Amino acid sequence: MAAAVKQTVSNIMDKIHGTPEGTGLREPSLEEFQQLRQKYTDAGQGQVFAFVDELKPDEKTRLFHQLSDFDPNRISHLADVALNPPKSDETQASLEPLPDVALASILDSDPKDIQRWYDEGLKQVADNKVAVVLMAGGQGTRLGSSAPKGCFDIGLPSHKSLFQIQAERITKLQSLAQKVSGKEKSVIPWYVMTSGPTRKPTEEFFQQNNYFGLDKSNVFIFEQGVLPCISNEGKILMESKSKAAVAPDGNGGIYQALVTSGVREDMRKRGIQHIHAYCVDNCLVRVADPVFIGFASSLDVDIATKVVRKRDATESVGLILQKNGKPDVVEYSEIDKETAEARDPKQPDVLKFRAANIVNHYYSFRFLESIETWSHKLPHHVARKKIPCIDPETGDALKPEKPNGIKLEQFVFDVFPMTPLDKFASIEVRREDEFSPLKNAKGTGVDDADTSKRDVMKQGQRWIEKAGGIVVTEDESAGVEVSPLISYGGEGLEFLKGREMKAPAIIEKED
Ligand code: UTP
Repeated sequence: MAAAVKQTVSNIMDKIHGTPEGTGLREPSLEEFQQLRQKYTDAGQGQVFAFVDELKPDEKTRLFHQLSDFDPNRISHLADVALNPPKSDETQASLEPLPDVALASILDSDPKDIQRWYDEGLKQVADNKVAVVLMAGGQGTRLGSSAPKGCFDIGLPSHKSLFQIQAERITKLQSLAQKVSGKEKSVIPWYVMTSGPTRKPTEEFFQQNNYFGLDKSNVFIFEQGVLPCISNEGKILMESKSKAAVAPDGNGGIYQALVTSGVREDMRKRGIQHIHAYCVDNCLVRVADPVFIGFASSLDVDIATKVVRKRDATESVGLILQKNGKPDVVEYSEIDKETAEARDPKQPDVLKFRAANIVNHYYSFRFLESIETWSHKLPHHVARKKIPCIDPETGDALKPEKPNGIKLEQFVFDVFPMTPLDKFASIEVRREDEFSPLKNAKGTGVDDADTSKRDVMKQGQRWIEKAGGIVVTEDESAGVEVSPLISYGGEGLEFLKGREMKAPAIIEKED
């Protein structure tokens, strides 16, 4: 991946310095081309050049530059390890919840602690020490929309996209921090990670929407790396005779991309110390949540995660816990029934392992400074997919009906076991307040646009009722949409005290 990103930069430089007509890329010499071909052949990947004699010069140039982005030996090695994983003795794994010192829960913490974390986090925001990284490089295949997920309208009365909702929470938090601190300007820079397929449409959407009212200079759209797609036999698949099939390298590509894109450098220049990273598809995400920032910074940890309580022993969620004494994520398929059903000896009414992973993280900047020392150790996981490609013998286009190959992906949480237990913490938050992911196509009834909309509207209704407003509703799921520009987390709604409204409703202004 490092090679991929480095070469992307070199391609950009080629474009800047002028290139032959047609490709916008420098034409390689015959010798360079042959060297590259030999390198791929030696690595057992010579099939990528199978149709090279049929290519036009500009196609050949493009193929050269795309393949120069990868080290074929590394790809063959990654494919080999991914397809033939070394047998690990999982029966020996000792699983325990994280230690008490590293755990907190919004559900049963002393309200004074929560207020203390909030105040501390808001101070960090006011001091311009907090940044946000959004992971938006996924292709959203289950959702089935051709646009990036962040552009998706979940059907709120306002028709705001996920990007807009998140941007407005940033705007509101900046103004809350300014108000409390009396500072003229508080800035939360927003770093949006995209990928090959999502970058351009994301950039265009931000431009068309005038960055949702944010200052453009504080929004940084960057791109994660890609890796070639591999056949079940470990060979690089070709999308066409002149192009290898590639896919984003997983949300774990974030670490390398933060470095190669210049994001980390930008954070350093701005004096950022605390980073909130989250997934684009969570409509309830509390972007740069002061409680989370204050919690993590007061414990002086390098990584903190938000978790929600696992619904029951059978829910299909990954769990955050300690495995062999290290922080880790264990998938639901990896634990046995007895472990899944075990009760917490201290609170027998709840599960012992209940910390469900929602991919919502805090990083200290100090930790991001060490990326180079561990990022090469992140494993690659196999995602078996239907990958449109050409037949390596005939060159005919193939549209597979069942998975014909693999995508290699890194996971953002694979860094956890490399973090000392005393530099890792986790805070349990209320699912209904902070987590409702958009994963599936409309009509599925689970984690789809309707559940996202319902959860935003129901939260708005709860906030209004808490502030003394009266919501009249005939439909249990109707609720009220409260603009993030009015309230970040339920605060500031006193003006609705005693006011009656009929759901579904929308609160966009203070009047
Ligand atoms: P998911 O694993 O749910 O993938 O991503 P997805 O692309 O949204 O949906 P499917 O699986 O194709 O249906 C979780 C988060 O990680 C980001 C996604 O954008 C989402 O915010 N992600 C995923 C990346 O940023 N890059 C990737 O390569 C993969």
